[in-house]
Amino acid sequence: MSSYHIPVLLNESVDGLNINPRGNYVDVTFGGGGHSREILGRLEDGRLIAFDQDPDATANIPDDPRLIFLRQNFSFLSNNLKYLGIDSVDGIIADLGVSSHQFDRPERGFSFRMKGDLDMRMNPDAAFSARELVTEYSEQELIRIFSAYGEIRNARTLGRCIIENRKRKEIISTEDLIEAVAGCTPRHGEYKYLAKVFQALRIEVNKELNGLEQLLIQSVDVIKEGGRLVILSYHSLEDRMVKNFIRYGDFSMEKESDIYGGRKLPFKAVNRKVILPGPGETDRNPRARSARLRIAERTGNK
Ligand SMILES: C[S@@+](CC[C@H](N)C(=O)[O-])C[C@H]1O[C@@H](n2cnc3c(N)ncnc32)[C@H](O)[C@@H]1O
Repeated sequence: MSSYHIPVLLNESVDGLNINPRGNYVDVTFGGGGHSREILGRLEDGRLIAFDQDPDATANIPDDPRLIFLRQNFSFLSNNLKYLGIDSVDGIIADLGVSSHQFDRPERGFSFRMKGDLDMRMNPDAAFSARELVTEYSEQELIRIFSAYGEIRNARTLGRCIIENRKRKEIISTEDLIEAVAGCTPRHGEYKYLAKVFQALRIEVNKELNGLEQLLIQSVDVIKEGGRLVILSYHSLEDRMVKNFIRYGDFSMEKESDIYGGRKLPFKAVNRKVILPGPGETDRNPRARSARLRIAERTGNK
């Protein structure tokens, strides 16, 4: 499946699950199935539940009776497991973001390097695409997503630029968008800038941070004591959320205490420092460059 997606930090992340060969595991981002296949290789009569919202991922499902694949958004993790009659699992792995397959298909519209419809939906049945976003969002809404999700310095100018240009010409393709923002794209660092613009739109279209928040909250109920949470993220917004959730137990960045002042954290970090891919891996797979891996163990606290 290497043309679909090369799995990142494969051994490090699956080692992080500390697999019990008879346990139940969840891979919430199946994609090309690289992490899932490694997990199945370490299971005996355990089970693996895999989620992916993209129907293209179904082409990669191995013929293995221990695997249940759900074409679902992982923000509905807990309900889907209940539906299968599973109350708790031994570990969850999430390899966030888009697969190489999604990125490399021009018609999916994820990459500014390829001509295609401005779509960016991981789930092609979802109602809302990037085209609708750039056509319908107000100037304030555009500024908000460019500054929050792209951390773009001239987000105000960029928002204005899109509003002005969409009056003149409908923005329906990746090329139209690049043309519409040309007036505020810096001459030096053009690619970096466009990557941030596309990233911001993608995060909003797929509600990626809401999904991650839901996943983290639900993982507290779903993972049994001593079980593992393994998350690979690819930009600082996601990594910050994961780090803070492990460190503080929620997103407020305050440690919850019991009445005696003891800490009530639902997870404890297994790796004190974030794990990054080494130069060997990034040479072989440049898309691994931005990966950050965090591993946590479920405590007995709620
Ligand atoms: C980086 S790829 C995972 C690659 C996979 N680990 C492998 O080894 O091939 C991320 C995958 O997660 C899926 N995905 C992202 N967010 C999702 C969500 N909220 N619910 C379900 N699937 C999601 C994407 O469609 C994509 O296929």
